Amino acid sequence: MKLLLLLSFVMCFLVAAIQGASNLVCYYDSSSYTREGLGKLLNPDLEIALQFCTHLVYGYAGIRADNYQVQSLNENLDIYKHQFSEVTALKHKYQHLKVLLSVGGDHDIDVEHPNKYIELLEGEKVRQTAFIQSAFSLVKTYGFDGLDLAYQFPRNKPRKVHGELGSAWKSVKKFFTGDFVVDTQSSLHKEQFTAFVRGVKDSLRNDGLLLSLTVLPNVNSTWYFDIPALNGLVDFVNLAAFDFLTPARNPEEADFTASLYGAPSQNRLGHYNADFQVQHWLQHGFPSSRINLGVAAYGNAWKLTADSGVEGTPVVGHTDGPAPAGSQSQKPGLLSYPEICGKLKNAQNEFLKGNDSPLHRVSDPTKRYGNYAFRPVQGAVTEGIWVSYDDPDAAANKAAYVKAKNLGGIALFDLAYDDFRGLCTNDKYPILRSIKYRL
Ligand SMILES: *[C@@H]1O[C@H](CO)[C@@H](O)[C@H](O)[C@H]1NC(C)=O
Repeated sequence: MKLLLLLSFVMCFLVAAIQGASNLVCYYDSSSYTREGLGKLLNPDLEIALQFCTHLVYGYAGIRADNYQVQSLNENLDIYKHQFSEVTALKHKYQHLKVLLSVGGDHDIDVEHPNKYIELLEGEKVRQTAFIQSAFSLVKTYGFDGLDLAYQFPRNKPRKVHGELGSAWKSVKKFFTGDFVVDTQSSLHKEQFTAFVRGVKDSLRNDGLLLSLTVLPNVNSTWYFDIPALNGLVDFVNLAAFDFLTPARNPEEADFTASLYGAPSQNRLGHYNADFQVQHWLQHGFPSSRINLGVAAYGNAWKLTADSGVEGTPVVGHTDGPAPAGSQSQKPGLLSYPEICGKLKNAQNEFLKGNDSPLHRVSDPTKRYGNYAFRPVQGAVTEGIWVSYDDPDAAANKAAYVKAKNLGGIALFDLAYDDFRGLCTNDKYPILRSIKYRL
């Protein structure tokens, strides 16, 4: 009897140990299918990742501004070329895999209706019903295992650049004028969002479908997420705890964009680090095992000027907004991991001069802030660049953090930005692998 008890105790312990930090949520942005050149991610390459992922989050669906129904943002690919069905069909081969359809993200950009996500919350029941029924129908029709809400809320204001002089006065003034408030109705929207999520959950429950939340970068959880109430409604939450600074939002200064911990210096804000975001959810009672920490597989790149100096130590001032787009990712200020890797010193570029010279890489022995790489404006270099990024080692540090804190796992944004071709070291998906081996 005693032995049996002991045995079952050991078993429970083993199961718990195996279950801890087991999620590897992989975001898949299907627009990568339509890219030109090396950034084009086709299904055979996607499949290689699936042995590592526990969940695949298929992005992105959006909402129609006229009737608030959920729709594919690229029907030609998702529906007529069967990408929805082909991706969900991969579950037959990778039976552990759950595939969720994600709504929103940074993709559902509708310049004529920038507030439609808020209007959906404020609207009468009929709007939310339209959303819920159409979402359910897409999920069921195409064989998804559930829905992910990457809900678009107003973003935090970017931190201000200020010189040493007068900054104390400015922060006092800011405190009194509420300079950081982006939404005077945020507490109402928070309540409405909880009710909305409850409605979505009710529609999914009978079929045992999953519901997850993605907290987008710079969306303030304090303002929009009633964490104790959401606890009973969502299966897990993915915290996109990166892009705290970006060259578009903070054109005049470059800094670590995805620090694990805060650095108490200069005018860094206390909530712009991953640990703060995780602690916020934990402190409000959300179970650690259902929090997945987001890791970006891309870096943010600023253009340096002659006034930025040659040291590269962040915070770097006098930057001039986003660096030119990478040839694969095609977004100004964003470089995928293989693009960054290709700019670091290697046998092909080590003797190149001027604007083709390799970037100087600075790693982070403290494991707290992440890496950066740069090439200052100096001599023959007229195109300076400074990029903050998580390489496979930095991503593994975050996985180690996740294990230490007993979190659910890691959410990788996005498979298409990892080195899925193995251009860097011949290893395909080095960031994904590094996370997997550390979890
Ligand atoms: C939300 O913003 C306020 C004011 O800027 C800040 O104090 C708070 O820490 C933020 N919350 C989170 C979870 O980032």
